[in-house]
Formats: sequence, C-alpha cells, structure tokens
Amino acid sequence: MLILGLNMFHADASAAIVQDGEVVFAIAEERLNRIKHYGGFPSLAVKACLDAVGAKITDVDHVAVGQDSDANLAKKVRYALANPTKVLNFIRLRQKKQAMRDVRLLLAKALDLDSKQLRFQEHHLEHHLAHMASAYYCSPWEKAAGFSYDGSGDFVSTMMARCEGNEIEVLERVFLPHSLGSFYTMICEFIGYKKYGDEGKVMGLAPYGRPTYCQQVSEIISRKNGAFQLSLDYFKPLGSNQGMQIQADGTVKLAPHFSSRMKKLFGEPREPHAEITQRDMDLAYAMQRNFEEIFFHMANALHARVPSQNLAMAGGCALNSVANGKVFGRTPFRKTWIQPAAGDEGLAIGAALHTYHSVLKQPRRYALKNSYLGPEFADTRIKADLKKSGLKYKKLERGPLLAAVAEQIAAGNVVGWFQGRMEWGPRALGNRSIVAHPGLPNIKDVLNARIKHREWFRPFAPSILAERQSEYFEHDHPSPFMLHVYKIRPEKRAQICAVNHVDDTGRLQSVTREDNPLYYDLIRAFERRTGIPVLLNTSFNENEPIVCTPGEAIDCFKRTRMDVLAIGSFVVLKTEN
Ligand SMILES: [Fe+2]
Repeated sequence: MLILGLNMFHADASAAIVQDGEVVFAIAEERLNRIKHYGGFPSLAVKACLDAVGAKITDVDHVAVGQDSDANLAKKVRYALANPTKVLNFIRLRQKKQAMRDVRLLLAKALDLDSKQLRFQEHHLEHHLAHMASAYYCSPWEKAAGFSYDGSGDFVSTMMARCEGNEIEVLERVFLPHSLGSFYTMICEFIGYKKYGDEGKVMGLAPYGRPTYCQQVSEIISRKNGAFQLSLDYFKPLGSNQGMQIQADGTVKLAPHFSSRMKKLFGEPREPHAEITQRDMDLAYAMQRNFEEIFFHMANALHARVPSQNLAMAGGCALNSVANGKVFGRTPFRKTWIQPAAGDEGLAIGAALHTYHSVLKQPRRYALKNSYLGPEFADTRIKADLKKSGLKYKKLERGPLLAAVAEQIAAGNVVGWFQGRMEWGPRALGNRSIVAHPGLPNIKDVLNARIKHREWFRPFAPSILAERQSEYFEHDHPSPFMLHVYKIRPEKRAQICAVNHVDDTGRLQSVTREDNPLYYDLIRAFERRTGIPVLLNTSFNENEPIVCTPGEAIDCFKRTRMDVLAIGSFVVLKTEN
C-alpha cells in the first residue's frame, strides 16, 4: 500500500512516501528547487518520492495532507466575530486556502496528467495532529505522552495528547492568538532577526545575556491552567498585517508581530545589521528563559495526565534543543523521541503515518531509526559530475578514504563530506556535512571566514561516538538528531573547545555504527589519530539550502575555501586544484 504525505502551501513544503507502513523516502521541496523554506506546492518532492519507489501517482492508494482548514472552525469564527475588523481578512484567507485544497487538480497539474486518472483516497489532517503523528508513529513506543508546539497551524499553537497503540487522543489544544512560538518569534524580530527560521540563531545568543529583563518579559507570557496565555497588547492583533505570509513565488515572509508597547518598554527595535547590544542579548536571554519556564510548566501538566516516561515531540518549537536538553532535569519524563523534521516539513510524514495507523487501522511495526530518507547518488554519477567540473580527484577504497579524510581533519583542514542518502530535517547528520577538528581554538573563525559566514555568537555542533557521550557530556540520553543541548564536562571543555559554547554546552549528535557506519568509522579514524571521539559537524552549504546533489556539493566546494571534498569514493584537494 502506498501513501503519499504532503505539506503544501505552507512553509517548508514537503512530500513523503510510506510503503506498507514504512517511510521509504521524504524530502523538503527547498532541497530540490533551492528556495529556502519554500512554501508553495511540492511538485519536485512528489516526483522524487514516486521515483524512489518506482511508482506512478496512479499507483498511490492514499494522499494525506497535514492541514485541515475545517479544523477548529468554530474557534476561528468566534475569534473573527469578536474582532470585526479581521472578518474580511479571515474570509479572504479561507477562500485562498480552499482554492489550494484541490489536491487532485494540483497533483494532476504537477505531474502533467488528467485528474480523472487518479484513484487515490484523499485525507486532510489537522496540523498539530500531523506533527504529533510524525513523532509518535516514528517512535518505537507503544505508549507515550505527545506534545506539539509551534507558531500556529489550523488555529492552534500547542497540542497535548495521550498516545497509545494506534491512537492519538488529543487532551488539550491552545488556540490562537496564544502561541509560545509567536512569543519567541516576536522577540527575535524585535532584536533584529526578522527572517523566517531565524529563531535558531537567537537561541545561540541567549547565553551571552544576563537576567535583566526576565521579570518584564514574563509579563508578556504567563502560565494558565497547565498551559499559558499571552498579554496581547505586546503583539499586533492576529489577522492584521503580522505573522508568516507565503508570497506568490513560494518564498516565506515574516511581518513583525510586535506592537508599540514593546518599544515603550524596551526602546527602539534593533535593525538587522546594527550592532548587537547588551539589551538585545538580555532580551534573548529572557526570551529563552521564559520559553523554557512555560514549556516545562506544560510538560509537567501533561505528565500529570499521562504519567509515562516517554515524551514524543514535534512542531517548530521542538527544535529548541536547549529546552529539550533540560527535559530530564525539569520534568519526570525520562525519554524523548523528537521528530528530526520537527518543523513543518515533518507534517508530510505525520499525515501519511496517521492515515496508515489511525484511519486504516494498520498495525505498528515501524520505527524511524535514522534521518537518512533523502536521495543518494552512485559513484558513476559523482564521477561524471567531477569530470564535468574539471577538478582533479582521486578514487579511494573505503579504508584508505577514511584514513585520508581523518588525516586531513586532524591536520586542521576543513572537509566537505558528501555521502549516502541526504538527511531529512534541518540538521546535517554526517551525510551532507562539513566536518572539522573540534579542538582547534581558531577553527570556528576559519569556518566562518571561509565558508559559513555565520553570526559570531552561533556555536558549531559536535558529533560524538554514542558510547563515549557520557565521558564528554553530563547527560547520556542519546541525541541522534542533534536536538539536545547538554553541558560539556569541565575536564573535556578544552579538548573540544571549538564546539563548547559560551555556557559550556554543546548541541550534540550521538552517532552509532548502526545508524551511520561510514560516518561512525570516520569519527573512529579521527579518534585514532587525536584521541578525540568527536568531530565538529556543520551543514554542507554556504547560505543556501543544504546541498542535495553532487553538482551542488562541487559548486559549494569551488565557491568557498573548503580544503577537501570527500564525495562518494572520491577525494578532491583544494591544493591540487
Ligand atoms: Fe507547525
């Protein structure tokens, strides 16, 4: 049975294909059309999914969309009626959404065929239920507490659930305009991070701040009966010109969420390229602290209702790896399973798996083991692309390739590492990565000057052999998708100084041989030379979406001052080119 999952006309449009209950292939459209966070229809992703299973759209039995504009309709109508100036806006938005709902027509158009040929059954699933499903149905658990939170989706910002067997029972929804995601985004915008997806950057700025504004910021968001509420006068009204908008070309634009009340309290907002002041850092600190307080308040309330050790999480806010890393200290949960594509691309997987398990009542046998769900390229294709590029290259067997690359990293060189299937979700996890020595004090500056051009305050992340994690970090709960930040043990901080953030933490990826044998063996080869079972790992890109094809990796290598490119069985040295 084939189920195609879609996230469409929403940021991070994506497609996933589920064959007999197993996610076989999944990809965000941005990786194929090269438009970051693309929010149109994922035509290329759909084609890639079908190609991956050798099927035509006429072979697909079900199509599931992680969006249902009829969900929570009564709440939307009630809000619109209480805010008469917003009624027109809501009607306009609803009409637009309905025009985009004809999945049959959209797929027929994308694949150039007559919609009458399509035999699939169509399913629409509420946004947060799709997020929740993307975590719980991918987890190995039979029972868990489910938590999903983000800016908004189908008029909801937070959902809590009891997950058991095939069923996800929704216990609680927090409706708009109250949103922990919007709270975070609003302050990010105020301190000059105005682009969609900038929230992750500001998380790295927070530890440079002091607790100056914690009290004042706590007045913007407060606890309420196991959930929270916003003080709405700090925000532009919902439905006015604020929040996320998808442009005609599929790019995503953010209009400021904050009202003049923020200015009265904190002064003028920072412009994107202005100097970052202590005020901005202190606001980032207060934002992260208050975010965590509200999150733990809700997680504890959820645990009281679902007293399980297991917490399954998704939604854009579940990318807050600092909060995720504190779950074990601040709540009774002992295990987390967080969807690697916790943002909206993950909806495609969630909608498809929900259809399989909850709608079609098929048994659960599958658990997502790793995030390598994207395309891969054979050596023949890589070789052809290398030839076309005019670069000099060497072909090596597995052992010598690992030895040569480990040697280069140990010598302080920066290596583009392109291997196997591309990662699903925003993190590069050892298949589309740039890797470097984690113990060289200047390597962060080298990477930024030569390739990444990131803000000075953003840390680089470590990949560590899973069995060595507790020697280096204060928690041993695995972080396979780089979604947890833990304290680094004092005695190891100097040894891995390039991945040790200002607050002595690291957003680690725990690597097992089972998940990624080649990457695991590369770290082992590096350890044999240096005694360090860790590599610095950052995504393989300059500013664009993470590279997907060999051609894009080769272009990035040529364009930037990367020292080495290890691509499939081939090694390319900058010094020879
Ligand atoms: Fe979402």
